[in-house]
Amino acid sequence: MSDNIESALHEDRHFPPPDDFVAKARLKPADAEALYKKADEDYEGFWCDLAREKISWKKEFSVGLDDSRAPHFAWFTDGVMNVSYNCIDRHLEQRGDKPAIIFEGESGDTRTYTYRDLYNEVGKLGNALRSMGVQKGDRVVIYMPMIAEAVIAMQACARIGAIHSVVFGGFSADALRDRLDNSGAKVMITADGGTRGGRVVSLKKNVDKALDISEGLVEKVIVCKRAGNDVDMKDDRDVWWHIATAEESNDCEPEWVEAEHPLFLLYTSGSTGKPKGIQHASAGYLLNAVITSEWVFDLHDDDIFWCTADVGWITGHTYVTYGPLSVGATQIVYEGVPTVPDAGRWWQMCQDHGVTVFYTAPTAIRALMKAGDELPSQYDLSKLRLLGTVGEPINPEAWMWYHEKIGGERCPIVDTWWQTETGANMIAPLPAVTTTTPGSCTRPLPGIIADVVNEEGESLGPDQGGLLVIKKPWPSMLRTVWQDDKRYKSTYWPKFDGKYYLAGDSARRDPDGNFWIMGRIDDVLNVSGHRLGTMEIESALVAHEAVAEAAVVGRPHDVKGESIVAFVILKSDRPTGAEADEMVKTLRNWVSDHIGPIAKPDDIRFADGLPKTRSGKIMRRLLRSIAKGEEITSDISTLENEGVVAQLQGKA
Ligand code: WTA
Repeated sequence: MSDNIESALHEDRHFPPPDDFVAKARLKPADAEALYKKADEDYEGFWCDLAREKISWKKEFSVGLDDSRAPHFAWFTDGVMNVSYNCIDRHLEQRGDKPAIIFEGESGDTRTYTYRDLYNEVGKLGNALRSMGVQKGDRVVIYMPMIAEAVIAMQACARIGAIHSVVFGGFSADALRDRLDNSGAKVMITADGGTRGGRVVSLKKNVDKALDISEGLVEKVIVCKRAGNDVDMKDDRDVWWHIATAEESNDCEPEWVEAEHPLFLLYTSGSTGKPKGIQHASAGYLLNAVITSEWVFDLHDDDIFWCTADVGWITGHTYVTYGPLSVGATQIVYEGVPTVPDAGRWWQMCQDHGVTVFYTAPTAIRALMKAGDELPSQYDLSKLRLLGTVGEPINPEAWMWYHEKIGGERCPIVDTWWQTETGANMIAPLPAVTTTTPGSCTRPLPGIIADVVNEEGESLGPDQGGLLVIKKPWPSMLRTVWQDDKRYKSTYWPKFDGKYYLAGDSARRDPDGNFWIMGRIDDVLNVSGHRLGTMEIESALVAHEAVAEAAVVGRPHDVKGESIVAFVILKSDRPTGAEADEMVKTLRNWVSDHIGPIAKPDDIRFADGLPKTRSGKIMRRLLRSIAKGEEITSDISTLENEGVVAQLQGKA
């Protein structure tokens, strides 16, 4: 038996791009072919051409890729530019009155910002930050609800060369403190509160708590009035946004920065509990945001784009704050949850705003799928023309539901693989070019040299699972881990003489060359010498008609190495007693039939939900502890649904 990861999932459904989509697409098959060819023949020239064409430079660059300090790579190093200028100013002449952001609050209030409005709001806030002494390179932490002002705050930082670090509004005061202290921020931007699920989340209270226990570098806190809840404003430190900006001019000269100037930090979890401050640079990041907005999301001037991600995650950075604006698109920003007043809210918003391109996460699709087909069928979704997913592998059943019930079997689906570290989509369909297949993120984009290799770095053949690597540096790659360059090297470049970027995912390619992500490397189980991707077992479980969602983890086993534990959420109520025993038997046989006896879960537990982070990621580390029967000592306060932990432990 080789050490390759075995694959057991087979998918025969294929969906070529619809003709009418191809006819209007920005990137047609011949264009894509030319791009792949150029990247193959002249890799650096390929990126330089794009950087000249897609970015408005203050001073053009002459250097393409600088790899003299590998594994630190730098791009377009002698060029000078500003990201906010590229997202706003350059559109003013042609699109000054075009809506840039259509905001909708959870309670239904709306406000539209044109590109001119954005220029004014960003300018005023940029000037206010400068008045407070914020200079190029200073860090500003943003802790806000999902409102247009969050985008404005990020753009204002970019405008004056400050480095923003957005902390998701669902994080606790402790989590906020860790990120504040690690980033060394001297100014914070927050709001009194935001509304989610009908409740006001008091962000400012968390800020006060975090600042009480932090190292104390923060000098000023700008507070946006949103929810109207009571807040304590501390003299000298806290100032209302509307007061700080009242006297400021709309015009704020951009800080012209070198291409490599840090644009932002974004903290993400790694294999240890301590979050990593992923640092991105300006021009390279922007370049991949622009081209993927054009190539993958096919954004045209008349599109209404909606990426449902919160700005607290990388998806909200690249496909809310930077990508859509950099190409002059109109987009929706929504404050609340998808289930208020009911699970039809998103579909109603798609109808009411005429959304044409919609991008969300598999976990949301599964949740809305569980609410039934009735809801989407009540709304007119005929304007939709392209759908996307991101964040985890999408199980084929959810893909088909999305395709049929939301996309009306008419819209291509772009399943986009990427990471906080990669900055932008890496492996994803080109919607007018790629034949998609449910569950696969398909092929690397032009200029992205991805491969599946074994521990020795050798490319693996079809259907052999291995390590997903990127073999050449690309412009929007992370530059380092803030304050911890050692961790940058040891996490991303530990193997293959530091030549390949290690994504930390396992993957395989099918005989057509499509990539299938099998999960994080540490999610791979080893059962009796067979390495199995947890995702495949999960997909098999979810394919059973009674199952809504499943998560699979390994538990150490004396004989088999690992045994398989499955946490399952049914579409009906959580079963107990004999009913539960019967269901366990059914599902074990089902998996056995679908993948093979080797993948049969040894233990199946039912609950009302899975423990998830606020961004919807299943907390696998926690599930592994539960499976082992360990006491839970880690902080579970950032969980979306704390109560299910006791159920999964069998205590409730
Ligand atoms: C997973 C989110 C399968 C993967 C942009 C990756 C995916 C991690 C996909 C990054 C996809 C993301 N198919 N798996 N389309 N997209 N992932 O940093 O394991 O929050 O390494 O970035 O999510 O998560 P992150």
